[in-house]
Amino acid sequence: MTINLNEKYVKSFVSDEEINEIGKDIEQAHKTLVSRTGEGNAFLGWIDLPHNYDKEEFSRIKIASEKIQKKCDIFVVIGIGGSYLGARAVIEFIKSQKYNSLKKETPDIYFAGCNLSASELVELTSICEGKDVCVCVISKSGTTTEPAIAFRVLRGMLESKYGKDEAKERIFVITDKSKGTLKKFADESGYETFVVPDDVGGRFSVLTAVGLLPIAVAGIDIDSLMKGAADASTNYTSNTSVDKNDCMKYVAIRNLLYRKGKSTEILVSYEPYATMFNEWWKQLYGESEGKDGKGIFPSSVIFSTDLHSLGQFIQDGSRNLFETVVSVKNENCSFEVPYDEANIDGLNFLAGVDMNEINKKAMKATILAHVDGGAPNILIEVENRDEYSLGYLIYFFEFACGVSGYLLGVNPFNQPGVEEYKKNMFALLGKPGYEEQKKQLEERLK
Ligand code: PA5
Repeated sequence: MTINLNEKYVKSFVSDEEINEIGKDIEQAHKTLVSRTGEGNAFLGWIDLPHNYDKEEFSRIKIASEKIQKKCDIFVVIGIGGSYLGARAVIEFIKSQKYNSLKKETPDIYFAGCNLSASELVELTSICEGKDVCVCVISKSGTTTEPAIAFRVLRGMLESKYGKDEAKERIFVITDKSKGTLKKFADESGYETFVVPDDVGGRFSVLTAVGLLPIAVAGIDIDSLMKGAADASTNYTSNTSVDKNDCMKYVAIRNLLYRKGKSTEILVSYEPYATMFNEWWKQLYGESEGKDGKGIFPSSVIFSTDLHSLGQFIQDGSRNLFETVVSVKNENCSFEVPYDEANIDGLNFLAGVDMNEINKKAMKATILAHVDGGAPNILIEVENRDEYSLGYLIYFFEFACGVSGYLLGVNPFNQPGVEEYKKNMFALLGKPGYEEQKKQLEERLK
């Protein structure tokens, strides 16, 4: 089993009867999703994507990634939200959080356009000085402010460094297949383009060109990633029963806990390489479920680091939370604690012990302590730290998210709330057309 859900540590919080009972509603929500009859059904292209992806584009992604690898030292990926998090999550999960500092044959990868920070742009442009650079801008709408500003800066930098013709060979655009400012601009400028499919929303787009191009540039095997997702898709879509489908069991347990007042879910990993995976998961669940006054608040920690900051709260604070622990069974590297003759630190009882074993013991100890403290723990065990398992895990969470949203009674595939800050920001920045709103907001800010 690539993914195994261990429910042992929720037994004292939810009963088998309750799981069976909610299972009936889950079967219905599962059917609604797979039959594409629920709200937001125009955005379900991700369900079959691992089987039905555009093979011609997939080959072009591989060719472009090889070209980028040869052409540059630095590859800047511009995008925000769903046009950013998936690629970074996979690159760091498979390669490392310290990817750029590692000795490797692939370009350093920097992410831009995911904030409005002047200092980030100052740093990035100075890092690029004297280096060969390629840029990929990703925006489904083609109008998002953060990436648009970063693209203007990076494009200007490439054009003044290489001239327009060579800059054209170094700029890659991932956007809508036909609409939007960015698509129009890319076609006019002659940039190579890739598609964000109409029926795949940003936070479900990691297995489209949005994620795959940067991931391939990092030297990650995108065939295995897709294969893992495809096998997960076959497994989870064909089985509605909570008993036979761990993905549905996850939906059952988290929703039962929510109904009992556990309104915060903390995704836990014991490996820093999962930090951005946690961020990707938070967007997936936060934007999909948090609406109409409902939803489980998605949060995340990296242990044991955060045991020394948030551990106290999780053990002993407000009892409105539960944890979902993602643990990789077979890590792909090991490190033994050295023996020290003097043993002044008293650590010789650990000499020769692999750090993975210590980490797993810390995990087990923490789970038991937190369960005793009233925080239920769902344990999701992933077979290996590799592309196949990660593709499987990505699909596990995507599919669970879709079913969970329907069970909750929301449309998991829209994000109306994201627009509110944008309107205010445009007004305050004086964007044409927002004059009246600007006056009202400035009045409120006085
Ligand atoms: O999931 C989503 O839809 C959002 O997070 C978007 O991906 C994000 O707002 C960026 O949008 P765009 O790709 O249109 O620039």
